[in-house]
Amino acid sequence: MTAVSSRHLAFRREIIATCRQLGALGLNQGTSGNVSVRVADGFLLTPTSLDYEAMKPADIVHVRADGTCVGARRPSSELPFHRAIMDARPDVRAIIHTHSTHATAVSCLRRGIPALHYLVALFGGADIRCARYATFGTDALSRNLVRALAGRRAALLANHGLVVVGDNLAHALSLTVEAEQLARLCLATLATGVKPAVLGPAEMARVAKRFRAYGYRPVP
Ligand code: 13P
Repeated sequence: MTAVSSRHLAFRREIIATCRQLGALGLNQGTSGNVSVRVADGFLLTPTSLDYEAMKPADIVHVRADGTCVGARRPSSELPFHRAIMDARPDVRAIIHTHSTHATAVSCLRRGIPALHYLVALFGGADIRCARYATFGTDALSRNLVRALAGRRAALLANHGLVVVGDNLAHALSLTVEAEQLARLCLATLATGVKPAVLGPAEMARVAKRFRAYGYRPVP
């Protein structure tokens, strides 16, 4: 590994471990999805189109604060939205994008995940929104996503997948698992054909207050 690519070695290894965990959990496969983590000078991002099983620390791209990319590989095609989120949300330290089945299925309905379950409050509000459709890798998708993520830790991408943000990679991974489970619950509820009861804003505010008492940090 060159001196440049050995910088942030622990973070590079953690990104690869996270990508492989996403595969093992059935949340991503092959080369789908991408992962980034903030560092002192910009952020680290997975390269485009490289199988996670083959990925090595030197393959991770360093996107510097001035926008330049350092590394032997091309960055993920979703560099625009990773950069847009890192710029718009100083609270975010890690980003995980998946094409997990249930979240993507809800995104194909072009609707968000309502508060069918109180755990939706983990994501910062009374729903997980769905960002308006735009082609992958475009600035339009970045704008739609940043808007859908306002005050939230996750958003669906219409006909595409899920984006989760967190305080670190472990936090983002646990929220990704939870968001996929909430999407599965949403589909199961819709499949009954019966109109579900959705928890209202007052109850979700109570849940958020209790979460804070248990030490969960609100989304700024
Ligand atoms: P990359 O391999 O370019 O990161 O693309 C994967 C993906 O999921 C695009 O949305």
